[in-house]
Amino acid sequence: MFEYLVPLQPDAIIALMQQCKADTNPDKIDLGVGVYKDEAGGTTILRAVKAAEKQLWETETTKSYVGIRGNDDFRHAMLHLILGGDAGKIDDSLLDRIASAQAAGGSGALRLGAELIKSAAPHATVWVSTPTWANHIPLISSAGLKMEKYPYYNRETLGVDFDDMIAHLDAHAKVGDVVLLHGCCHNPTGADLSPAQWDQLADFMLAKQLTPYVDLAYFGLGRGMSEDSYGLRKVVDICPEVLIAASCSKNFALYKERVGLVAVVCKDTDTATIARSQLGSIQRRIISMPPDHGAKLVADILGDKSLREMWVAELTEMRERMRDLRKQLSEALNVQGGETMAAAVVDQNGMFSTLPLSVDQARKLRSEFSIYMTDSGRINIAGANKTNIPRLAEAILSVL
Ligand code: LMR
Repeated sequence: MFEYLVPLQPDAIIALMQQCKADTNPDKIDLGVGVYKDEAGGTTILRAVKAAEKQLWETETTKSYVGIRGNDDFRHAMLHLILGGDAGKIDDSLLDRIASAQAAGGSGALRLGAELIKSAAPHATVWVSTPTWANHIPLISSAGLKMEKYPYYNRETLGVDFDDMIAHLDAHAKVGDVVLLHGCCHNPTGADLSPAQWDQLADFMLAKQLTPYVDLAYFGLGRGMSEDSYGLRKVVDICPEVLIAASCSKNFALYKERVGLVAVVCKDTDTATIARSQLGSIQRRIISMPPDHGAKLVADILGDKSLREMWVAELTEMRERMRDLRKQLSEALNVQGGETMAAAVVDQNGMFSTLPLSVDQARKLRSEFSIYMTDSGRINIAGANKTNIPRLAEAILSVL
């Protein structure tokens, strides 16, 4: 039967990773995949993670299964973290309305959420921003859901076309549709909604009876923990139902451990009980039991005062380094012809910005300068460093 298979190309990000790896130029600059790199170009294991791993190694006595929806401490600690704001704590009345499951990374969470939508509302359309993360559409549409796009990023102003976004959803989305939103650090553009826009969006979604599906893959890496969850907390406050897909890949640097959480805020506790049974059953038929190691580390870090403080300090360090790099790149780009880019780069959040480059220009940067970014002009700012920023800016300006 396998002779009937047709070869498939890897997606743009995976293909770029392979291309960059094969480039032997010692001065190459890898701005491709969304992986945080330190000044020396390394993606090291966080000190808090190492300490939790040591503790786990000493105390863990079994590798037996944890449970179909994963580690309870992990799920609860994550919900308090992402929904608790400055207090880091949510009320039991909200917790009781939430069904959650540990997932294999943010992608696993997105897929579990998509399967749940398919079971609950098979005819709902899922709306995604233009542009969005390359894997959103394959991941969610594979659950059998219809998908459509709404306008979001303006490639000329390099900002969010918020009025167009609302007008488009108002005109085309139907009651019961789902709108995928990036909670912070929009991937691939870094252009986020302001708090005032989240306020307006939440009211609009409620009035229009649309369900927010918030992808929170870069929590803590934008402006700060409380700032990065503002939008999510807002829609949870206003809308009766919200889906959340959170990832610990970037903020805990646990990439290959695949740690994620899907959470569904329901209208009431009875609905949450049903949603829990559904999430468990979906997990069972896709991967049966979620992997435990990474989630246990996150639970241990968040549940221990000193490990948590260590993690917050490391997260802050990553975030501030990216903000510094943005500032430096912005200054270097701030010459005639580069002003809009310069203003956007310093204003945007997280790992990514999408520069106003054509496919040919992005490819030229690759072939002539060994600078790797996606064809769409997305850069991962954490892939740059203080030393190579002048060269990077010069190369970008030279291809414009
Ligand atoms: C990215 O956007 O580069 C990351 O989320 C990694 C991935 O899997 O695509």
